[in-house]
Formats: sequence, C-alpha cells, structure tokens
Amino acid sequence: MRALLLFSSAALIAAPFTPKKPEPAKPLTAAQKADFSKVIQPMFDAHCISCHGPKKEKGKLRLDTLEATLKGGKNPTFVIGKPDSSMLLSRVFLERTAGDVMPPKAEKPMSEKQKEALYAFVEGQPISDELAKAALADTKAALTAAKAAPKAKK
Ligand code: HEC
Repeated sequence: MRALLLFSSAALIAAPFTPKKPEPAKPLTAAQKADFSKVIQPMFDAHCISCHGPKKEKGKLRLDTLEATLKGGKNPTFVIGKPDSSMLLSRVFLERTAGDVMPPKAEKPMSEKQKEALYAFVEGQPISDELAKAALADTKAALTAAKAAPKAKK
C-alpha cells in the first residue's frame, strides 16, 4: 500500500506540464485587413518600426506587416476580440511615466485618437471614418515632426 502511494505521487510529479492552448486566432475579415493597412500600419510605421521593423527587432517583435504583428514577439501581441488580454495594448495604454510604456518615454507618444483606433481594431470593431481621419492626421503630424527634427541614431 505504501509503495503504491509513493508510486502514484511520483507519477503526479512527473506528469508532463501541459501549457494552456493558445486561443485559435480567427482569420481577419477583409474589412479588418483594410482598416489595418489604412489606419494601423501607418501609425506603427510612424511610431514603432524604428525599433520593431527590418532594422531592429526589439523584444523579437516586428510591426512592419500584419502577419508579423499577429505573430508577435517574445510574447503574443493580441487576439482580435480580446483587447483586455492584449500585451501590446496594455503597453501602449500605460501612463507615459511607466517604465514599460510603448513607444518608450523618450519617443513621441501616440495620440488619444491613434490609441482609440488601435483599441477598436483589437476589439474587432470597425474603425469609423471620423476616427480613421483623426488618427491618420495625428500619424501624419508625427511623421512631419520626425522629419523636421531627425533624432540622433541610437
Ligand atoms: C526606441 C525604440 C522603441 C520604439 C520606438 C518602440 N519600442 Fe516597443 N520595445 C522596445 C524595446 C527595447 C523592447 C524590449 C524590451 C521590453 O519588452 O520592454 C520593446 C518591446 C515591445 C513589446 C513587447 C514585445 C514582447 O513580445 O515581449 C511590445 C508589445 C512593444 N514593444 C510594442 C511597441 C509599439 C506598439 C510601439 C509603437 C507604438 C513600440 N513598441 C515602439 C523599444 C521600442
């Protein structure tokens, strides 16, 4: 009896650890893909790809294409429809004083409209024309500002 107990507890300890299955990602709709290329990719191009693109892959993350964005880096970025568990969203929405905020503190922050559009996209909601326009205007302004005052290369 004692031997049996010992045996079964050893079996318990040795049981292989099975990680939780990741959420199966639903394919994006044509409208979601269109929103991504029209509104989200330009804001990533302006604010993120200097560190998450072909030149640098900080956190093993690239944000220069939809596929790369969905693939994620060291950690998953987001699952459409689950904004609350998105690591990417949580880092973008951190206070600007937080050490983990993205883009990092020293960089030009994303505007409220840009963040709102990104949130809607991750939520799986269509980005309204009005919001798209406002977010794109802010993206454009960020690009213009970056050109006017090029930062020293790090
Ligand atoms: C100046 C460089 C820089 C810019 C610009 C930048 N990041 Fe980062 N990012 C980093 C570094 C360095 C890391 C890795 C260390 C860490 O996780 O904080 C990182 C990590 C991340 C991670 C975690 C990756 C993982 O899988 O663990 C996410 C998500 C992220 N960045 C999103 C963004 C987004 C979105 C933008 C644009 C809005 C952005 N970053 C802009 C430097 C940058």
